[in-house]
Amino acid sequence: VSVSQKDSCLFAVPDTFFTLLTGAGMSTESNIPDFRSKEGWWRKIDPRTVATTQALEDHYDLFHEFYSRRINGLKKCSPHIGHEILAHWERRGFIQAISTQNVDGFHKTAGNMNVYELHGNIHDIRCKECHSVASEEQLLSKDSCIQCGGHLRPGVVLFGESLPENSWDASLFHIRKSDLVIVIGTSLEVYPASNLPQMTNGKTVYINTEISRNRIQFDLVIKGKAGEVLRKVDELL
Ligand code: NAD
Ligand code: APR
Repeated sequence: VSVSQKDSCLFAVPDTFFTLLTGAGMSTESNIPDFRSKEGWWRKIDPRTVATTQALEDHYDLFHEFYSRRINGLKKCSPHIGHEILAHWERRGFIQAISTQNVDGFHKTAGNMNVYELHGNIHDIRCKECHSVASEEQLLSKDSCIQCGGHLRPGVVLFGESLPENSWDASLFHIRKSDLVIVIGTSLEVYPASNLPQMTNGKTVYINTEISRNRIQFDLVIKGKAGEVLRKVDELL
């Protein structure tokens, strides 16, 4: 990964107001699969069978098995150096906010305080009928809701559901105000998060291991792994 001194100046302009948009590629170095690259979830499972409101209604067993697998998988994972650098940058006053499509909660675990979870958080468990809060253990053991007997689900946003309003509004606010938007580890395939980067008047940087053709609208494109690129930039700041 080569990040030149010139490239890094984008990051270190004094009192730069910058925000980030991250996706599943931010967590693959923590051994969490993403969705659309060759090892991604959607290469093995059709998202329509497990990640839609229809799936939750029509085949709860498949839905439950998929999310239980992801919750158990997360138990063996933790934030990597890239997450830690972003928390360090927030403490140094570089980062105003992180909007993430990830549901693993790793930006907060690493120490970032200003995090907006556009697609919810997999550890927030509730009843799909009455929305009562439940525990991860109850979901994993496939208990029914103790209030109404309904099925339990994680608080992630499924295909077809709308994003949490406060996360979306806050993300839009910060991105519009930003001098610099850094997008890390997302294919930008999923609406409406994919529209966020073009809503800024500031500069835009795209850090990703796969660069598809329509990324030219970014001011700077860095092909590389999130953790490696962030480490290189951090050394230059
Ligand atoms: P969609 O119906 O457009 O997406 C259906 C499928 O197409 C998904 O696999 C999606 O990844 C894919 N897709 C979406 N845009 C694409 C594009 N430009 N090129 C290629 N493939 C594309 O929309 P959706 O993603 O199902 O989202 C519908 C609603 O679900 C939105 O309101 C969104 O807020 C919400 N939502 C979706 C996701 C998600 O993972 N897709 C997550 C959170 C929220
Ligand atoms: N560093 C940088 N980029 C990476 C890394 C890494 N270590 N690992 C993977 N990537 C890149 C992949 O090449 C891919 O382009 O990150 C991108 C991840 O894209 P997706 O797998 O599509 O994940 P994401 O964009 O977050 O998906 C958005 O789709 O199904 C949904 O709700 C789900 O939030 C998710 C949404």
